[in-house]
Amino acid sequence: MSLWSLLSSPVWGLGFVLLILVPLLRLGVQIWYKIHLWDLQGCSTDLTGKTAVVTGANSGIGKAVSQELARRGARVILACRSRERGQGALTEIQAATRSNRLLLGGVDLSSMASIRSFVQWLLRESPEIHLLVNNAGVSGFPRTRTPEGLDLTFATNYIGPFLLTNLLQGALQRAGSARVVNVSSFRQAHGYIDEEHLIGAGGPLTFNQNYDCSKLLLASFTGRLAQRLQGTGVTVNSVSPGVVYTGIMKNSPWLYRFLFWLLSIFFKNSKQGAIPVLYLCLAKELDGISGKYFSSSCVITLPPKAARDPHVAQSLWNTTVRLTNLDKMD
Ligand SMILES: NC(=O)c1ccc[n+]([C@@H]2O[C@H](COP(=O)([O-])OP(=O)(O)OC[C@H]3O[C@@H](n4cnc5c(N)ncnc54)[C@H](OP(=O)(O)O)[C@@H]3O)[C@@H](O)[C@H]2O)c1
Ligand SMILES: *[C@@H]1O[C@H](CO)[C@@H](O)[C@H](O)[C@H]1NC(C)=O
Ligand SMILES: *[C@@H]1O[C@H](CO)[C@@H](O)[C@H](O)[C@H]1NC(C)=O
Repeated sequence: MSLWSLLSSPVWGLGFVLLILVPLLRLGVQIWYKIHLWDLQGCSTDLTGKTAVVTGANSGIGKAVSQELARRGARVILACRSRERGQGALTEIQAATRSNRLLLGGVDLSSMASIRSFVQWLLRESPEIHLLVNNAGVSGFPRTRTPEGLDLTFATNYIGPFLLTNLLQGALQRAGSARVVNVSSFRQAHGYIDEEHLIGAGGPLTFNQNYDCSKLLLASFTGRLAQRLQGTGVTVNSVSPGVVYTGIMKNSPWLYRFLFWLLSIFFKNSKQGAIPVLYLCLAKELDGISGKYFSSSCVITLPPKAARDPHVAQSLWNTTVRLTNLDKMD
């Protein structure tokens, strides 16, 4: 039988695709990433004596980032909502890096009360913080109210990091020189700004658009917070990790999860997805650079227009300060 007639029978054709074409494609994709991603190994930044806080550190990108920071000598605080999953990641990172400077902290980013008590604990543990990675995020939830009256997606992806970053401002400034890194998403381009979304009201949202909008809000503050922190030695930047095969779709309908799995051969794995985030954490050439949004290829990119409007940013800032009661603090 000729090769052609073998391949044209449906069973063998499918077998050919699965056994040869898919692995070849996968290899091509991996080589492409190898060439195009930032050269992490070539970066010599050492973090001995530095303290880093990573939210959502128990899985995906957050776990990979934490592991690399620990490997470079940082004291890493893994801020997770589940003690059990957090402890699992801690044990794993400890085994991989032999670091004895890992610490588990409990925080639910969708709850302002939980953030406040986490910060109280954290500041006792570590009055100086050199690196804050706002990584925790959710997607796939319909509009859902938290007990505090916020929308779950917006609370986790935007209000939580807003409150946490503001409460840690003193500790970041005390460190002398510090970086805040927000893990945003290219999906922000599909969002729009409506402050009412924060409390589970406001304009219509198509499936998972609350995710896109919450990430857009995160970017809107880039300029605002960077301005406020000018001259303090603290820089804030945000970055898109690209499309990464992680647990991020775990709350989505099965069809979306299936497609995500099917297409995952083209996606980055968590280690590769962590590289743009680590670039913002480690690259020496970013000293002093603040208020920027980086694409997943580590290039400074303009965020969507809505996120660059200073009036919108100021109004959103005011609203969020009020929602988080930051105006009632000294
Ligand atoms: N994967 C992608 O393609 C992609 C693309 C663009 C941006 N991102 C962003 O990358 C970040 C990391 O996501 P990932 O892809 O690594 O997904 P992941 O594996 O699902 O990780 C998300 C992490 O956030 C934590 N988290 C969720 N809700 C939380 C809450 N209320 N309080 C505390 N922690 C919470 C999760 O903890 P549990 O284990 O307890 O749920 C988990 O550790 C997210 O901000 C995501 O939006 C991802
Ligand atoms: C990071 O997120 C916080 C909270 O939403 C925000 O205040 C800050 O401006 C963001 N920074 C950047 C660079 O996006
Ligand atoms: C935001 O609040 C400040 C101070 O309370 C106020 O001066 C400013 O006009 C407000 N800006 C917007 C756009 O709401």
